[in-house]
Amino acid sequence: MHPVRVDVRTATGGYAVLLGEGLTDHLGRLLDERHIFPRRFIVTNPVVWRFHGERIAGALPGAEVIQVSDGERHKHLASVAHIYEALVCADADRGCVIIAVGGGVIGDMAGFAAATYLRGIGLVQVPTTLLAQVDASVGGKVGVNLAAGKNLVGAFYPPLVVVADPAVLQTLPRREYRAGLYEVIKYGMACSADLFRRVQAEAAHLANPAASFIAPIIAECCRIKAEIVSADERESGPRRVLNFGHTAGHAIESLTSYRRFRHGEAIAWGMLVASQVAVARGLLTSDDDRALEALIMNLGPLPHIADLRAAQTVEAMRRDKKVVNGRLHFVLPTGIGTTTIVDDVSEGELTAALTLVGFAAA
Ligand SMILES: NC(=O)c1ccc[n+]([C@@H]2O[C@H](COP(=O)([O-])OP(=O)(O)OC[C@H]3O[C@@H](n4cnc5c(N)ncnc54)[C@H](O)[C@@H]3O)[C@@H](O)[C@H]2O)c1
Ligand SMILES: [Zn+2]
Repeated sequence: MHPVRVDVRTATGGYAVLLGEGLTDHLGRLLDERHIFPRRFIVTNPVVWRFHGERIAGALPGAEVIQVSDGERHKHLASVAHIYEALVCADADRGCVIIAVGGGVIGDMAGFAAATYLRGIGLVQVPTTLLAQVDASVGGKVGVNLAAGKNLVGAFYPPLVVVADPAVLQTLPRREYRAGLYEVIKYGMACSADLFRRVQAEAAHLANPAASFIAPIIAECCRIKAEIVSADERESGPRRVLNFGHTAGHAIESLTSYRRFRHGEAIAWGMLVASQVAVARGLLTSDDDRALEALIMNLGPLPHIADLRAAQTVEAMRRDKKVVNGRLHFVLPTGIGTTTIVDDVSEGELTAALTLVGFAAA
C-alpha cells in the first residue's frame, strides 16, 4: 500500500490527504500512526453503511457508529442535533474524533458537528463519492442548510486527515459518478489545461469508475485544491476561481428546489453559461467554449433547463452568497485552464448567455 499524499497547509498547521485503492482496509493503522484519539465515532448513513460498513467497521475495531438519514434534505441542524445527542449519550469528551464516512452531505454535516461539539473535537474525512473525494473533503468547509438556503450555517474546520479510497466508488450510482466528473472538468477548465486534456483523452474510460483510471485524476484534483486552499483558506482571493460555474449553477439548483439536479450537473450548466459570457466579451475563443461543451455533453445527459426562465435565473443569481456589497463576483474562463474574476457582468449579458445555452427567453 503506497498512498499518494497531498499536503494542505492551514492557519492552524496542516493535514494530509491520503489517496489510494484499498486504503479503507488500513484506516485504523493510518489513524493510529497519526496518534489520532482512539475513541472514534463514525458518522455515516444507511446507504453508505450498507455497501461499505462491514469493511470499515473491520478496519476500525471499537469505533461507535452514528447514522443519520441519507440525502441533501437531511443536511440540516436537526441531523446535527441527532449527532450531538448520540455523542452525549456515549459520554464523548474532547478526546474523541468523528470520522465522516460518506459523500459531501455527510462530510459537511459530520464536520460541522465536530467543529461545534464541545467547541470542537477531532475530525477525519473518509469521502465515498467522487465529488467528495475531489472537492468537498478537502479545504475544511463544513456546514448545513437552512430552510432559507444552502450552506447558510457553517465553519472553516480543517480535518486531521482525509483518507480517500477510489475503490469505494465502484458502488456509486452512475449519475452520482458523472456529477463528480463535472467538478473534475471544472478544475481542468479553471486551473489546469493538462487535467482538461487528460479528461478529454480518457473520456471513454472515465465513464466507468475503474480505480486505475480515476485514481490519478482524483489525486490531481486534490493537488490543485490543496495548493489553492493552502494559499487562501478562507476564500478571500485565489480560492474563488473554484467557484467557476457555481454562480449560475447555484441559481438553477435553488430555482428547482435542489430536486432536479445533482450539484455537479448544475455546475456543468453553470460552466456553459459563464463560458458564453466570456465568449461574448471576447475573453474566450469559440473553439475553447466548444471543447468545454463537447466534454460535458459527451459524458451523458444532463437534466433539462429549457423550462427555466433566464430572467428568474438572473434574479436567483443576485441572491447568491457571492454577492459582496451588491456586486456579483463572476469567474469567467479566458482559455482552457485560465480564468479571470469580474464583478461587472450585467443582467443583459447574463440573459443573453442563458438564452444561448438554452434557458427560456421570456
Ligand atoms: N465542503 C465543501 O467544500 C463542499 C464542496 C462541494 C460540495 N459540498 C457539499 O457536498 C454535498 C454533495 O455531496 P455528494 O455529491 O457527495 O452527495 P451525497 O453526499 O448526497 O452523496 C450522493 C449519494 O450517494 C450515496 N453514496 C455515497 N457514497 C456512496 C458509495 N460509495 N456507494 C454508493 N452510494 C454512495 C449517498 O448516500 C447519497 O445517496 C452538497 O451538500 C454540497 O453542498 C461541500
Ligand atoms: Zn461545487
